[in-house]
Amino acid sequence: MNNALITIQSLEKEFVVRRGFFPRPKKIIRAVDGIDFSINTGETFGLVGESGCGKSTTGRMLVRLMPPTSGKIYYQGEELTAKTEKQMLPLRRNLQMIFQNPHGSLNPRMSLEQILEEPLKIHRYPFSNRAKRIRELMDYVGLSQTSMDRYPAEFSGGQRQRIAIARALALDPKFIVADEAVSALDVSIQAQILNLLMDLQKELGLTYLFISHDLGVVNYISDRIGVMYLGKLVEVADCNTLYRRPLHPYTKILLASVPVADPNQTFKAMAWDTPEGDFPAPPAGCSFYNRCRERLDICSRQKPSLKEQAQGQSVACHLFNP
Ligand SMILES: Nc1ncnc2c1ncn2[C@@H]1O[C@H](COP(=O)(O)OP(=O)(O)OP(=O)(O)O)[C@@H](O)[C@H]1O
Ligand SMILES: [Mg+2]
Repeated sequence: MNNALITIQSLEKEFVVRRGFFPRPKKIIRAVDGIDFSINTGETFGLVGESGCGKSTTGRMLVRLMPPTSGKIYYQGEELTAKTEKQMLPLRRNLQMIFQNPHGSLNPRMSLEQILEEPLKIHRYPFSNRAKRIRELMDYVGLSQTSMDRYPAEFSGGQRQRIAIARALALDPKFIVADEAVSALDVSIQAQILNLLMDLQKELGLTYLFISHDLGVVNYISDRIGVMYLGKLVEVADCNTLYRRPLHPYTKILLASVPVADPNQTFKAMAWDTPEGDFPAPPAGCSFYNRCRERLDICSRQKPSLKEQAQGQSVACHLFNP
């Protein structure tokens, strides 16, 4: 706990959705439904789960792009959720985000040099040092100095993601949320960007929250992994443990969908590790109830909470916490 750079407690986010033009009951979406975890300094914490489970919402709240409905976020022991926008300003430079689609997140009318200069301008980086800093950033991410005057459309997808990474690094951040940062790239380019992120982490002492729906990618880069399902964390473990001894039935399903390259892998995907039914989960019970092959009676009546099962492995499942 004392080595934690980021700690979140009972974090929740609700979206109120109004449907259509005519007055109808509002629908409340619990995108993040009370999650707790911490990320240690220098660590990569992977967040994995299927589309719509709340990964991006969690990432956005951590860098204060979006306020939580309730819960607390601490950065180096300071409560971010208690700060005003003005009090956040000096801290903002430490918390950065890289998005999935650099084509959308980079201004097409700005040259590479202008893109990298923008955060330096906003945070009043000394003018005389800006050109040197821009060259340094391009070196960090392996972009040629000759491409300074080119525009985003003139770069390949992988290079554009390098630009997005360089921009995120501009103000020397401590913590970066990478949201599906390689999901739009070819597999070979994905590996290059993942390796770049890992090299930068070592060189600059960065801490990452790495979000992806692809467990294979998350496993490659992460030290620990949190598995999310419908707004909740259902399992947290270090990478090796999660791969060798997944506990939550949903983690097993996710693993079953990852191609196995290692025939000696302890855990083997089995035919039954596939989703089962399509009926609603009981409101009072476990949200995974309707898809679970191992459900018990209690699962329809009581929500399981995340509890430590073994050293460094926590799971929210009645099979383990009856
Ligand atoms: N601004 C918003 N307004 C209303 N609902 C939202 C908003 N942002 C997200 N949601 C809803 O919250 C839930 C979680 O969304 P989120 O984008 O966090 O999921 P995700 O795990 O990142 O999914 P994906 O893998 O598709 O990126 C979804 O049901 C989504 O429709
Ligand atoms: Mg997302």
